[in-house]
Order: sequence, then structure tokens, then C-alpha cells
Amino acid sequence: MIQEAQQRVEKSLKHPVFHTIRDICDEMNKPAFVIGGFVRDLYLNRPSKDIDVVVLGSGIELAEQVAKRLGGLRLNVFKNFGTAMLRYRDLEVEFVGARKESYQRNSRKPIVEDGTLEDDQNRRDFTINALALSLSKDNYGELVDPFNGMEDMEKGIIRTPLEPGITFSDDPLRMMRAIRFATQLNFRIEEKTFEGIKAQKDRIEIVSGERIADELNKIVMAERPSIGFKLLELTGLLQIIFPEFQAMKGVEKVDGRAHKDNFYHTLEVLDRIVPNTDNLWLRWSAILHDIAKPRTKRYDKKLGWTFHNHNFIGQKMIPKIFGRMKLPLNEKMKYVQKMVGLHMRPIVLSEDVVSDSAVRRLLFEAGDDIDDLMTLCEADITSKNEAKVKRYMRNFKVVRQKLKEIEEKDHIRNFQPPVTGEVIMKTFNLQPCKEIGDLKAIIKEAILEGEIGNNYDEAFELMLKKGEEMGLKRAK
Ligand code: CTP
Repeated sequence: MIQEAQQRVEKSLKHPVFHTIRDICDEMNKPAFVIGGFVRDLYLNRPSKDIDVVVLGSGIELAEQVAKRLGGLRLNVFKNFGTAMLRYRDLEVEFVGARKESYQRNSRKPIVEDGTLEDDQNRRDFTINALALSLSKDNYGELVDPFNGMEDMEKGIIRTPLEPGITFSDDPLRMMRAIRFATQLNFRIEEKTFEGIKAQKDRIEIVSGERIADELNKIVMAERPSIGFKLLELTGLLQIIFPEFQAMKGVEKVDGRAHKDNFYHTLEVLDRIVPNTDNLWLRWSAILHDIAKPRTKRYDKKLGWTFHNHNFIGQKMIPKIFGRMKLPLNEKMKYVQKMVGLHMRPIVLSEDVVSDSAVRRLLFEAGDDIDDLMTLCEADITSKNEAKVKRYMRNFKVVRQKLKEIEEKDHIRNFQPPVTGEVIMKTFNLQPCKEIGDLKAIIKEAILEGEIGNNYDEAFELMLKKGEEMGLKRAK
């Protein structure tokens, strides 16, 4: 692996951007390094287009020279931060002077001073993110690794370069980053670093909701999101940022009967849905599908544990959760609410003889999201009993087939009333009034029940009949 990684580094550093930086730094006599995520990802063979360059001097000056020499590229300069950024082909390169940072207790905003490369590496979050490659002529491509980040990379370890208390207190977002990297890379968080997160967990309060949500979403989009949520739980962060999820953990026993642990069940559902969807919001639906179980839990001597209406109550809990966690309150949230609200329906369908009208009702309510709903429901079957799982999966197949047949026949997915309000008004010579809505509802019901087909003629006929029954007179 090391040899292959070395070859990747050499190949990557042949890029004209790096050669240009090398030449200019040589002329200016200011050493520069490529540092951070790009170097880490190069060794891990994860494609990365964001390059951070640190120079022992002014980042803006170096960037100006590089932009000029590469043919007068546009430069974005952030004077306040002493950084500049340019785009060259598919790469985004950010330049900054090496710095030393000190932090105040109640802010993520550091006081910044010029520093050495070592100062700059010291202020970084993890050893694997502090690796630097020299861009100087005399030792081009040499790795500068003062904290054995390379060894941690090989062993798969997340560790802070300094005392974890300092690194996390400086910037508490790093606690989320540690867990996010552990999840994305399937790395282990080293003991002291882990203890550091536990000790500093309350400092997460000074981090903005948006940044926490960014990290959470990256965890959700990883290959095994459960790793991240288990770590969030173990460190105590989950209780602070997502107490509703924490509340699902644990099992209660009455009369020797226990319910399942809904925290672990949910994580299983989440991991199971990953191979079947890249849709962040379907993954969030998996996270939230049972969120109201703690709130609706009852013990009944006859029935055992019940969670009546947990789907509907869960649906109602979502706006508050999304609001607090700075997740979007738009149609994406509505989609998650719909999934949570409907997540029991295909299971109920699959347990019964599937009637056409029940299938039509589900198609009507789920609309174009019906396939996503089926994906969620299939992931929701986490029983240890293999025969049971097989039976459910077989039944779901029947439901899917039935959904397909009925949709082909009746076109309910994007239901449009076959007779419009205008037609009703014209036929009976009506001004806008309650009867129009009533007639539309009667027609819709009749179609879903299968009493009439989903077409104009049958709907029109029913409208005439029901209209007359309501005492409406047909216009001449
Ligand atoms: N960094 C840090 N503390 C932070 C954020 C960033 O020390 N809270 C440092 C790390 O050295 C990191 C580099 O800044 O490698 C670049 O940060 P960023 O672009 O946010 O992340 P990457 O590590 O590149 O990873 P990703 O792109 O996956 O977020």
C-alpha cells in the first residue's frame, strides 16, 4: 500500500499547479507545502479536488504570483483571513500563510499570528489531517509528519496532535469531525481523544446548528452511518444535539416481556437502506421512522407493548426536530414527514390479502414517492427470525407487483380529478360553493374504491347522478 500511495503522491505532484508553486517559492525563497485533507486523501486514495497550500510568508502574495504565471487566472482574495483562492482546471487551490492560533473560551474565532510550519500543524484537528508535503525545489514531495499521522493512517486511528482537551476546546466542531471521519473512513477514535470528546461535549453548544447539521449529513451519507451514531451516543453528544434519538435507546420489561431497543433497530434500518439509496432524505426518513415510539409506548396486559399512532405522532414531531437541527423546512421535510407517516402501510398491506382499493389508496397518498416508501419498508424488517424476514420480503414482492399492475390500469400515482371543478360548475350552473368539493370527494372515493374507473365518462356520469341526489339542477 505504501508504495502505491507513494506513486500516487509523485504523480499528483507533477501537476502544473504544484510545479508553478515550486518555481515561484524558489524565486521568493519562501518554502510552501500542500497540507491537510488533500494529502490525507491522496494517501487513502480518495479523490479530492480541494488543495490547501501553506507558505512561510504571505499566502495572498504567493497566490497572486501563481495566478499570474498560470495565465492571469481570477483570484478570490479574503483579506481578513489572509487567504486567496484560485481555480485551475478541475482543482480549487487555497493559499494561506503559516499561522499560529490562539482561541478564546467562548468563541470559535481565533486570534491569528504568523507562525512556522510546526505551529500551523499544531493547530490542526487530527494527526491524519496535519500531514504536509514539501513543494520546495530541494526536497520536493517530502512528507513532513511530526505527529506520526502516517502511522495513524495505516492503523486507522483518529487522534489529535496536541492534548485532546486543547484541540477540542479550541474548536468544538472538531468533536463532530472526529466522529464523522471515523465513520467515513471506518477508523477508530484513539482512547484519549475519545475521552477528550466526552469531557468537552458540552462545548458543542457554541457551534452553529448549520455546521453540526453538515457533519451529521456526512455521517448519514457514509457507507455505515451506524458507526457515527453509536459514537455520538457513547460520547454523550447525541443527548445534546438529538435528544429524541437518544430517547429511543433502552429496553423496558414488564411481566417478563421486553420490547426491542429502538435505537439499535433504527440504526440497523439505516445501514440496511444505504445500498439502496443515495437520497439523503430517504436516509433521514429511516432515522426518524420510529422517532415517536418512546412517546407512544404503552404496556397492555393482553397486547404487550404497543406504540399506537407512532407514525402519525412521529410525522408531527419532525418540524420541531428539523427546525432545531437547522435542517431544511421545505418540501424535503414534507417528504420525510410523508415517509414517516406512511411507513406502516405497506407492512399492513403485506400481512393481509391485498385488496385493490387498499393499493389504490396507498398509491394516491404516496404518489411518486411510492418506490422510496417500499425501499424504507423493506429496510424496516430487521427480525432475527429468517423465516419471518423471508415471508415479509415475499409479501412485499406481491405488494410491489400489485402496485405496478394497478398503477398501469388506473393511473393513481399522480391523481388528477377526471372531472374538474369548472366542469361541475358549468354542468350545474354553480358559483363556487361547498357542493363542488363534495362532488369531487365522492368521485375520488368511488375511483379509489374501484366503483368507477379513473376516466372522464364514468366520473361525469357519477357526478350527474350524485348532483341530482343533492338537489342540483342541470344547466340548460
Ligand atoms: N481543520 C481543522 N479544524 C477544523 C477544520 C479544518 O484543523 N475544524 C484543518 C484540517 O487540517 C483539515 C483542513 O483544515 O484537513 C481542511 O479542512 P476542510 O477542508 O474543512 O476538511 P478536510 O479535512 O479537507 O475534509 P473534508 O473535505 O472531508 O471536510
